[in-house]
Amino acid sequence: MSAGVKVSEPGMEGSVKKEEVYEAAKKMMGREFQTVLAALLKILPDYEDMLVENLVRPFILKDEDYKLLMDIMLGEFNKGLGKETNPTAKVKMYPTYVRDVPDGSENGNFLALDLGGTNFRVLLINLNGQEVTMESKIYLIPQHIMTGTGEQLFDHIAECIHKFMSNHDLLKEKIPLGFTFSFPCKQIGLNHAILTQWTKGFKCEGVEGEDVVRLLHEAIKRRGDIDVECLAVINDTVGALMSCAHSDRDCAIGLILGTGTNACYIEKLENVELWDGDYNEPKQVMINTEWGALGDDGCLDFVKTEYDRQVDKHSINPGRQIYEKMISGMYMGEIVRLAPEKLRKHGLLFGGKGSEELSTRGRFYTKYVSEIESDVDDHFKNTKQVFEELALEKYSDEDCRIAQYVCSLVSTRAAFLASVGVAALLNKMDRQDVTVAADGSLYRFHPHFHDLMVEKIQQLVKPGIKFKLMLSHDGSGKGAAIVTAVANRLRESGKESIGENGLEN
Ligand code: BGC
Repeated sequence: MSAGVKVSEPGMEGSVKKEEVYEAAKKMMGREFQTVLAALLKILPDYEDMLVENLVRPFILKDEDYKLLMDIMLGEFNKGLGKETNPTAKVKMYPTYVRDVPDGSENGNFLALDLGGTNFRVLLINLNGQEVTMESKIYLIPQHIMTGTGEQLFDHIAECIHKFMSNHDLLKEKIPLGFTFSFPCKQIGLNHAILTQWTKGFKCEGVEGEDVVRLLHEAIKRRGDIDVECLAVINDTVGALMSCAHSDRDCAIGLILGTGTNACYIEKLENVELWDGDYNEPKQVMINTEWGALGDDGCLDFVKTEYDRQVDKHSINPGRQIYEKMISGMYMGEIVRLAPEKLRKHGLLFGGKGSEELSTRGRFYTKYVSEIESDVDDHFKNTKQVFEELALEKYSDEDCRIAQYVCSLVSTRAAFLASVGVAALLNKMDRQDVTVAADGSLYRFHPHFHDLMVEKIQQLVKPGIKFKLMLSHDGSGKGAAIVTAVANRLRESGKESIGENGLEN
């Protein structure tokens, strides 16, 4: 290769185009050899394409991309809030009928249901001012119920409530219930929520377009052996906000980064054109943004990778929840799996030899990303453990390094994308000090998610806005109990009819 072509090793600067090799060879060799070489070059993949860096580069977005994405998100928030524009908006900005943060005087015993996260839980919560005690139990929702009929789902939920009440000796009591139902719902009152579409792993027939509280009450009635009334239905983002606001009055955003992703925030009534409640004090309402649907109209196509497209294609809701699919725990493991699979096929990982597990959709769990990125030295203890679980037989330290690199690219992109949403909300609210209540398995367990987000949000917010990103504890239980407590107090005082104006003072 003396004819002016620079050859470099994989991973080094510079690379050779196939045409260049051929042109150089033509000057050096006989016609027959040239023909063979031409044929060989035709079937060889491009050297450029074979570098690890090139295969994963699409995960790296520029600062300007994130800035542009924030502007897009802001535009979508406004579109969702506008009366005229809402019907075609993808980010729906649902008013929640929760009007104010708690004042700490909430008290009593409450039941709560938490559906839509990693687990389904029933909880018993005692509120006594700042003191909160809680008992809870996780119940499994079998796969066939998650994708079965609505009646099966709500019968199963009612059965779990019965079991829980029986175990806690509560069957003879009448305890108000709050329902944390973490799916997009158009609320028409504090205890009326119409499911607009299932997300995450759920797809139960006959529930979209229906009031989930009515379906729950019907299932309870069918059993006839428990006396439970649901007074409030909330989204998990609202739960996170309420739970955190119980001790921090600056809390004005609730953020979930778990199986799915979403955020809610406190908006002035004058900006909520679709508000149909009263305009009494406080002139504000919590808005459930349902930002996971950003991109469902193609506005994120310019940053989507081939891996994102594949994940979407094989999901149970193709074309929907595009932003969520690029960020949340339900999809992150699968995005990561597709990249090493491709690297392996190109002979760039595991000596080209994979395993059935690595080739199986959904088999690379999102918790592996957190585990792999938690390795801090060159022993790669967690990474090797994950490789063992994936039945990979041959791996080198370099393989560990590459796997760690891919994980960090995907999780950093997720953290930065989520930051875009938070920064857009902070800029929109334009308050001086805001606490963001964050919860969800991804935020909780990933070793760098919090720090990455703080760094990116800082870059994107207007000067002068101060924010804190705080872990919110047990929002789905405590938050539901707090909202239910206020609803119950209003009902007992006969001051407000539940379902019309929500948590009004
Ligand atoms: C749902 C939201 C929810 C989020 C986090 C999304 O898929 O649409 O309602 O808040 O997941 O659980």
